[in-house]
Amino acid sequence: MNADLIVYNIGQLVTSKELLIPNDGESLMENIEIIQGGYLAVSGGEIIGIGKGDVPSKFVKFTTKLIDAEGKVVTPGLIDSHTHLVHAGSRENEFLDKIQGVPYLEILEKGGGILSSVKSTQQATEEELVFKAKKSLKRMLGFGVTTIESKSGYGLDRNTELKQLYVNERLNHEQEVEIVSTFMGAHALPKEFKNNREGFIESVIALLPEIKEKKLAEFFDVFCEEGVFSIEESRKMLLEAKKNKLKLRLHADEIINIGGAQLAVEVGAYSADHLMAISENGIKALKNSKTIANLLPGTSFSLNKEYAPARKMIDEGVQVALSTDYNPGSCPTENLQLIMQIAALKLKMRPKEIFKAVTINAAKSLGKDKKIGSLEIGKKADFVIFDANNIEYILYHFGISHTKKVFKGGCLVFKK
Ligand code: NIG
Ligand code: FE
Repeated sequence: MNADLIVYNIGQLVTSKELLIPNDGESLMENIEIIQGGYLAVSGGEIIGIGKGDVPSKFVKFTTKLIDAEGKVVTPGLIDSHTHLVHAGSRENEFLDKIQGVPYLEILEKGGGILSSVKSTQQATEEELVFKAKKSLKRMLGFGVTTIESKSGYGLDRNTELKQLYVNERLNHEQEVEIVSTFMGAHALPKEFKNNREGFIESVIALLPEIKEKKLAEFFDVFCEEGVFSIEESRKMLLEAKKNKLKLRLHADEIINIGGAQLAVEVGAYSADHLMAISENGIKALKNSKTIANLLPGTSFSLNKEYAPARKMIDEGVQVALSTDYNPGSCPTENLQLIMQIAALKLKMRPKEIFKAVTINAAKSLGKDKKIGSLEIGKKADFVIFDANNIEYILYHFGISHTKKVFKGGCLVFKK
């Protein structure tokens, strides 16, 4: 079959295709294919050929666009599977308190933190939210990110939650990064409900049928944390969401261990996220499940907290993804490459593990691994050409973006 587009002279082609068994001495998370010296052929936005060596002549016609990768690294489009993209305002007014050690949950209790972003988001127009989110998405694309997950949760009332989800829907049509939408109505308890937790939880549950019917979200998420929503409260909402045919993910064991990872596994969540305070039992539960451990080391970095025990989890056989957690409070950055660099330096994750985490495992955590997350025949031609000769270099030279070109569905969408 003829190709519309061929990328040739690729130095390292990280396909992220999973090998049945890892190479000798490698972890279960290092079982991805990397082709040394290869090509990629695309037609109609999909991959029709991929392999080692020179491009087979059957792919080339006189109209085929040829791109010389100049011996550099090519990977699948990166996937950021945990963001709080849609919100108004920023929280630099809390920054000094934060760096002087005032705890995150204490700022929240005083009506700051998430609740302050809720106020600004309630007051913002849809247009304002779209404008701000687009600015962030453009940055993300520049870091090589072609798909993200985006949560509501800065509304906490019907209208604002729906407004955030409508923004997700609009963004999917109005710019290049693909958005997977999550309803996170239970992100914090609004002050008005301080003495009526049950009432708030019922109000979140009451929104589920409408959100499903209007196809405003694919996933449902809860901030399951001591002082936010308990295990029992979270379980109740998660099971209702499941009844309404939403897929599940969960903010689990971020600050204090209350068994969030086990709950995520119990309800069949696609991911358990954060896990800085995960227990031995939590690790065991994840290991024997399909739930992906979605680690967000930028949040530990920014809150000056413990890092999730990634090395231990991976060595025990847990499958890990990595995301930014981009939000105005605990992690105000869109830079997934920085997160990957922190994962190397602080989580001691190895280069192949890191690339697996932000490609095929992130795709699995979003239930999208049939279409994206690896470069294989029949999958979407979302890929990145990096200005680096090997993947180690991308992690080693930190704090910058190594992206050279980004392609989404075979189209060039970013060029340095
Ligand atoms: O994932 N943990 C809860 N939610 C976000 C923080 C949101 C905020 O501080 O605005 C997180 O870290
Ligand atoms: Fe989060």
